[in-house]
Amino acid sequence: MGELTNPDSSPAQRPEEIRADELRSELRRHEHLYYVLDAPEIDDAEYDALMDELKRIEAAHPELLTPDSPTQRVGGKPAEGFKKVRHSRPMLSLDNAYSVEELADWDRRVRELAGLLPVEYVAEFKMDGLSVALRYEPTAGGGSRLTTAITRGDGQTGEDVTSNIRTIRSVPLIISTDQLKKASLPQAFEVRGEAVMPEAAFLRLNEEREQQGLPAAVNPRNAAAGTLRTLEPKIVANRRLDFYAYFLLVKGEFWQQGQRATLDALDSLGFRVNPLRKLAGSVEQMMNFTNHTEAERATLGYEIDGVVFKVDSHATQQRLGYTGRAPRWAIAYKFTAKSGITQVNAITVQVGRTGKLTPVAELTPVFIGGTTVSRATLHNADFIERLGLLLGDWVRVERGGDVIPKVVEVIADSEHPRGTKPFQFPTECPECKSAVVRVEGEVDYRCVNADCPAKLRESLLHFGRRGVMNIEGLGEAVVQQLLDNGLVHSVADLYKLTEEQLTGLERFAEKSARSLIEEINRSKKAGLARVLMGLGIRFVGERTAELLAQEFGSIEALAAASAPELERVEEVGPRISQAILEFFADKENRDLVKRLADAGVNMTAEKKQRSAQLAGLTFVLTGMLPTLTREEAKAKIEAAGGKTAGSVSRKTSYVVAGEEAGSKLDKAHQLKVSVIDEAGLLALLEGPSANG
Ligand code: IVH
Repeated sequence: MGELTNPDSSPAQRPEEIRADELRSELRRHEHLYYVLDAPEIDDAEYDALMDELKRIEAAHPELLTPDSPTQRVGGKPAEGFKKVRHSRPMLSLDNAYSVEELADWDRRVRELAGLLPVEYVAEFKMDGLSVALRYEPTAGGGSRLTTAITRGDGQTGEDVTSNIRTIRSVPLIISTDQLKKASLPQAFEVRGEAVMPEAAFLRLNEEREQQGLPAAVNPRNAAAGTLRTLEPKIVANRRLDFYAYFLLVKGEFWQQGQRATLDALDSLGFRVNPLRKLAGSVEQMMNFTNHTEAERATLGYEIDGVVFKVDSHATQQRLGYTGRAPRWAIAYKFTAKSGITQVNAITVQVGRTGKLTPVAELTPVFIGGTTVSRATLHNADFIERLGLLLGDWVRVERGGDVIPKVVEVIADSEHPRGTKPFQFPTECPECKSAVVRVEGEVDYRCVNADCPAKLRESLLHFGRRGVMNIEGLGEAVVQQLLDNGLVHSVADLYKLTEEQLTGLERFAEKSARSLIEEINRSKKAGLARVLMGLGIRFVGERTAELLAQEFGSIEALAAASAPELERVEEVGPRISQAILEFFADKENRDLVKRLADAGVNMTAEKKQRSAQLAGLTFVLTGMLPTLTREEAKAKIEAAGGKTAGSVSRKTSYVVAGEEAGSKLDKAHQLKVSVIDEAGLLALLEGPSANG
């Protein structure tokens, strides 16, 4: 499969040693293709099969295990704390510009100081993560390996987070002699760049945290920082951090060849480097880059908070030098902050559809990023405590995209005196005055009253929401009217509404009445996953609802499922299964489901054929598998919709090879049919692997 390119190999190698080297270099190549270039050549199962083969060789021959083996990304032991390490040279910060004028001022100063030296800028993204320094040191064979990864810390000294950084697949653990030669680099060097949490990973993290009843992480940067300081590398590996490289240092000095060559060299060493970097010769070109980037910002898949311009020439950089905190030869142009400072006048408490109480800050209206903000969520009682928020405090409020504004910090300085009164979380529901409780281990308080009017109102609003049953026109005012007139007592009653009833209501014209009824009728076809979300079962969000719908295919099947059956579904643990069981154990909920069914609401979904995982694939078994007998393997393949055949042909999808595999294996190689082992087969049976 792979070429033999291990620089460390000595002439007298054993076959397993050769194979291990081969596998390592193959795995590295595929990791680079997948994680850095986004251009995989093989699928997850094949990658896993290679990884498993290597793991097996290393387990059988521990002396062959190298610390930079791809198997060791997650192998690191939990740290007991982080060792402090001094930086080779201080990790400085950047000066900021917030307007064209400030950028033009900076450009003028740079040109003055540069004298006759060349001034051209490299334009990069300002990734919103944390900077990390990676030290690479010589290997015996002439290459380099990652030895230490250090956080920025106070700039002078950071924390050793090597085992965590190792789990980032886009960070090369080893660099070959050839690569060093190509980049004209010595064996010892340092790479600096930004560790970030991609948006998808961030959303997934918060979904998980919500399901576990934990408060949401505030933003990807905090989540990335928290992740890097996690003592358990396995958790870090799961979070899917990424690393973008932007500096190269040799002997503690920035690389002589300048910034543009630095980024190209990093690229050729296998690091992820921003592909959209550009050269800019003037303020106008810098502004073009800025505007273009800001327009693309939402589509990048990770957060950036501005752009950075760096003088390209190393000689010019040296001439310009540093202020105490930042290089004079670089500047960050920050995108207009979408935050503002205002005062908290009161804290009100809202009751959600599950009875959850959410504190909301009532603010002196403040203009942020194009809209007036007068309320912002405070999440829960713990959040208020963590902020140390008092009534009357000044706070910074942030608004990102179309999300709800949130309070991020308390401001306290000479212009912003502290408030005085601490907030008392209510002991009774603000809507129905029933008691509120906080379940052990959860952050939220809830109203205990099943008939709390707030719950019904919020349930109706939730039911009609976009992404749920998507009933356009079922907004707050309409819901309130329906409730005030006693027209609905549960979401099922929506389907009994008539045009006449609606036109009888205040401010309801015939046309809007008709279109609301049409919308309600249309929603009957939304399907099981949407209905499950609409029902508001605790912890069942969009993704879980989708997975449950695919697994069970109908609401009857779901309602009849036992805890172990529920937990067979990916991402469903005891907490979620418990919530589902409780939901269907409640007679009122069962009645509600029945009434929805009677109203003609479709509560079925296309069932994902669990058994069709291997549909269309043909397998040939050969040799002795480590745990399965031939018959068992065959039965498993067939149960999953696959076929088995006796001989290898071009139509064979996979040859499953065990020990002492013979001519069939040769035939597979000859015909370039994929060969997997038992672990590879089991991975295929399990479905898309976590490696994706
Ligand atoms: S250069 C000595 N380049 O922004 C120069 N920094 O506000 C400092 N950052 O601490 C680093 N993207 O964490 C540089 N393309 C980029 C960057 C970048 C994000 C971060 C970095 C730095 C902070 C300064």
